[in-house]
Amino acid sequence: MMICTTSPNAPPFASMAVLLIFGVFVLSALPEFAEGMTRHYTFNIKYHNVTRLCHTRSIISVNGQFPGPRVVAREGDRLIVKVVNHVTNNVTIHWHGVRQIRSAWADGPAYITQCPIQTGQSYTYNFTITGQRGTLLWHAHISWLRATLYGPIIILPKRNESYPFDKPYREIPILFGEWFNVDPEAVIKQALQTGAGPNVSDAYTINGLPGPLYNCSSKDTYKLKVKPGKTYLLRLINAALNDELFFSIANHTLTVVDADAVYVKPFETDKLLITPGQTTNVLLKTKPSYPNATFLMAARPYFVGQGTIDNSTVAGFLQYEHPSHRSSSSIKNVTLLNATLPAINATNAVADFARKLRSLANAQFPANVPQTVCSKFFFTVGLGTNPCPKNTTCQGPSNVTKFSASVNNVSFVLPSVAMLQAYFFGQSNGVYTTDFPAKPPVPFNYTGTPPNNTNVSNGTRAVVLQFNTSVELVLQDTSILGAESHPLHLHGFNFFVVGQGFGNYDPNKDPASFNLVDPVERNTAGVPAGGWLAIRFLADNPGVWFMHCHLDVHTSWGLRMAWIVLDGPEPNQKLPPPPSDLPMC
Ligand code: C2O
Ligand code: CU
Repeated sequence: MMICTTSPNAPPFASMAVLLIFGVFVLSALPEFAEGMTRHYTFNIKYHNVTRLCHTRSIISVNGQFPGPRVVAREGDRLIVKVVNHVTNNVTIHWHGVRQIRSAWADGPAYITQCPIQTGQSYTYNFTITGQRGTLLWHAHISWLRATLYGPIIILPKRNESYPFDKPYREIPILFGEWFNVDPEAVIKQALQTGAGPNVSDAYTINGLPGPLYNCSSKDTYKLKVKPGKTYLLRLINAALNDELFFSIANHTLTVVDADAVYVKPFETDKLLITPGQTTNVLLKTKPSYPNATFLMAARPYFVGQGTIDNSTVAGFLQYEHPSHRSSSSIKNVTLLNATLPAINATNAVADFARKLRSLANAQFPANVPQTVCSKFFFTVGLGTNPCPKNTTCQGPSNVTKFSASVNNVSFVLPSVAMLQAYFFGQSNGVYTTDFPAKPPVPFNYTGTPPNNTNVSNGTRAVVLQFNTSVELVLQDTSILGAESHPLHLHGFNFFVVGQGFGNYDPNKDPASFNLVDPVERNTAGVPAGGWLAIRFLADNPGVWFMHCHLDVHTSWGLRMAWIVLDGPEPNQKLPPPPSDLPMC
């Protein structure tokens, strides 16, 4: 194997000096500053009855809460979360976007970094938040259990550090979710059996509530009560299973300040797109005086694929507190103003929004974009088919095929033991192979007329990376069974989005336009429908790291793969042994 390691561009002298002065000042003034604290949580996974759209379901919850409890920490803190499984399903929890530096055992994807927590068992996730500030989310990472098992991770700046923007008056988590009147586990089980696209959800939700545009739901409306003349920080989280969402608040502008727990250059927008797995902090400046109106805050999907989706709209109310009544205005005697959202297929609105996101890239919060690349990869992502088993009829694109999805034509099959365990104990034989293709096995016109044979190959194949390798990965959407956007999520790392475009990626022309100065840094980014996305990251975190589309239906169909990052030579570059309570398969 080629040995090739680089470090990211070193910070310029001036910024090092600033950091040094800053560090010395703070350390001498506050000796406890450098050390974070340890915060303990207990997650009891248990059944809980919830009624939405006049349907009552026994959902799987954390501690009987829906959405689940907030996990709050400061940058630098250690989190210890004991998860106890009281339900019949196997469970794991993933701390989506947390870098998990040398703590891969706590990452959570089932059969990648751990075996599931079985009924009556528990597992304690133990990890430190390093170099991240903003909002992330936690969610179940097995089958479709994250439909109801999700909640916010709120990362505050270190004590005595402040935001790079004015301190907001209040901070409010806004979680988008997806509600099914039936058990989502039954939905995906049936789809995988018949090969059909799964039944769609019945509603979207804001903080668990569908709102007035759905049947039977006006009492289940999220209300954000505000005072005039203040700035609120909204921590937006898309925890929906399968849908990218446009979001807007009537007659209000939002200032985006953070994406996936990394500060961005602030910019104003009246609408935004948030994909499943993405989080973003926005500032909402309220009107200077009482407006005598209530404003709709609404979200609905962006979708250009060929299948069917839930194209309904979730709405909540932004209500101003009346100056004399001190209570919120009732919506009966004030005007209700509607939010305007882009059309369902507004790919241009998506691309415009993506282009506005830039890293803050200043001395205190630099963008350490790898300037040189050691390992280059080109992966196609998209749908495909598997043949229907003999003597059965299927309901895929034809009655002899099932829907599937792949990366470089490999539809990833989950192993029956955890890859990380197999890797760590040198027992990969029969679990996975390390021959994941670096480029498509057969090149074709990816966004043109699809090939006649749409069958994928199936396997558990990984890419092995040397420690500290700088990686450039171009993700190319295919038009097989319809071009569509795929929000790709990488575990264990943030990546820089250095380029994106429509059509087929051109390795001779496109790199010239890459942004290596202030590209946005995140953990989930949409591969444009019928286009490509170029990302760079430094493989500085040893372990086995899942990468997949964050639309659960595509993940279930196999649009997923794994990177194995080897240990480095230094003691602090090695993956420690697993905790003693790591679940067994
Ligand atoms: Cu948010 Cu692998 O997941
Ligand atoms: Cu996808």
